[in-house]
Amino acid sequence: MPKLSATAPFVHEGAEVTHSTFGAYCEVGKGARVLNSEFLDYAYCDQYADIANTTLGKFANIAAFTRIGPTDHPYKNASLHHFLYRSSYYWEDAEDDPAFFEHRAARRTVIGHDTWIGHGAIIKPEVTIGHGAIVASGAVVTKDVPPYMIVAGVPSQEMRPRYPDGIAERMQELAWWDWSHETLREALPDFRTLEAEAFLEKYA
Ligand SMILES: CC(C)(COP(=O)(O)OP(=O)(O)OC[C@H]1O[C@@H](n2cnc3c(N)ncnc32)[C@H](O)[C@@H]1OP(=O)(O)O)[C@@H](O)C(=O)NCCC(=O)NCCS
Repeated sequence: MPKLSATAPFVHEGAEVTHSTFGAYCEVGKGARVLNSEFLDYAYCDQYADIANTTLGKFANIAAFTRIGPTDHPYKNASLHHFLYRSSYYWEDAEDDPAFFEHRAARRTVIGHDTWIGHGAIIKPEVTIGHGAIVASGAVVTKDVPPYMIVAGVPSQEMRPRYPDGIAERMQELAWWDWSHETLREALPDFRTLEAEAFLEKYA
């Protein structure tokens, strides 16, 4: 098992990480691909996750075989093929199209703090997943997801809120994800044993 570090992400074998930054205690699973993305503290992805042009909030949990920010081909021109923009692959005298790549990189996907993206889920570019939300396994998320909402299906629909009324707002006010590593350690027994409302009663 990896021992995670405050200074560098733990990147498993075969993962490919390009133009990306990491906070403390981050992990990139085996064979994952991470491009032009930012992992905030404690965010991790499991094996073969494919994440592009995305900010992962603190404590984001990204399951295996997910695809976040899948890039689009142009579909209004005569061809869909990537020779239109990866032109240098094909001709010595042709350059890649920088405007295409800049536009693609600017289409940011945002995954909130303390989120859980289930196995094999797909989240479209420019979608925002609110803090505390859950995306069910196999979902295809095409629209923003409110904080602490659970969504499922293709295209995903709201299934139910994660908590009863009022708790989501109080949890966001508490913003425990901003606590220090030491404070989190002290509260670890309560994170383990208390349900959300009792946790808020003790800490909010
Ligand atoms: C979303 C999730 C958290 C809900 O868990 P739950 O509350 O225990 O859900 P239940 O099994 O009670 O199902 C509730 C309803 O949602 C439906 N449902 C559950 N998971 C679903 C999914 N992935 N896609 C579509 N519908 C789903 C169930 O069929 C059920 O529908 P019904 O009310 O019409 O009968 C869970 O199903 C899930 O997807 N977890 C992700 C697991 C995963 O990917 N793990 C990888 C390792 S991190």
